[in-house]
Amino acid sequence: MINRLTTRNQVYSENKTMAEKHYNIDYLSETMKLLQGVKHKSYTYLESTPDGGTIVDLGCGTGQDLCHMARAFQGNNLHFIGIDHDPKMISKAKELIETDNNVEFFVGDALHLPLDDEAVGGIRMERLVQHIAKPAALFKEVYRVVKIGGRAVIVESDWKSISFYNGNLSVSDKLNNYLSTKKVNNGKAAQSLTTYLRNIGFREITLEVTPFVLSSYNDACTYLWIDKMIAEMLTLDLITQAEHDDFVAAQKYADEQGFFSCSMNIVVVSGVK
Ligand SMILES: C[S@@+](CC[C@H](N)C(=O)[O-])C[C@H]1O[C@@H](n2cnc3c(N)ncnc32)[C@H](O)[C@@H]1O
Repeated sequence: MINRLTTRNQVYSENKTMAEKHYNIDYLSETMKLLQGVKHKSYTYLESTPDGGTIVDLGCGTGQDLCHMARAFQGNNLHFIGIDHDPKMISKAKELIETDNNVEFFVGDALHLPLDDEAVGGIRMERLVQHIAKPAALFKEVYRVVKIGGRAVIVESDWKSISFYNGNLSVSDKLNNYLSTKKVNNGKAAQSLTTYLRNIGFREITLEVTPFVLSSYNDACTYLWIDKMIAEMLTLDLITQAEHDDFVAAQKYADEQGFFSCSMNIVVVSGVK
């Protein structure tokens, strides 16, 4: 089922430094806490994967979701495979493997999966599709490896939905635009998932939208890296120094006054082959 020859041939190029990417290993642990509810909701779609089947977490990062599913579905006689193209993520994930949890992690590219056709009962992808510039190729590959009757479940952050309620609308519009059209490869992925699934042939599509509200500037910086993004926009000349300072001051003022608010939608989408 897992094609070991292909896994050895995977090439991962660190063409973006961790600072340029919108996540790193520590960031994934922080968001693990915040997104717990939505993550658990996504696991439930794969709960009824038939006995003896395989569940894949694609773009598994540090592997925490796969290990949670392995623990939650213990007794269902399932095999769990995590795949990520970043060897550092996979080494971190391997630290979580327990002796009897039937979990394996592999370095591999989502566009060239090291898996046989129809080898998988369920596949999960969280915050992966936003990084894929050619989503049609990804969904073709996902469709290939899922069994008839198997399910794909996707969790995505909707970068287009970020809203601030603290003044300075012009800079927040520019930030929104920067994140959804420049910074993130496929920053509008969340709003396109049902279309991607339908176009390749998945049916019984479901969609759930959950708004996340951050009520301090510190949380917005921790979970959405707002301070880093605004600073990056300044270095790219997308905003002026005055716009930068005014935006940050408006957020801090709202915080001090107790009315800071920033929200973003997270979607969970699923489909059956
Ligand atoms: C934002 S992280 C999310 C990680 C994990 N799914 C989670 O929710 O904690 C995106 C992950 O996708 C991986 N990734 C990005 N492009 C990929 C590709 N083409 N093939 C495999 N993994 C990829 C990254 O290395 C990273 O670990």
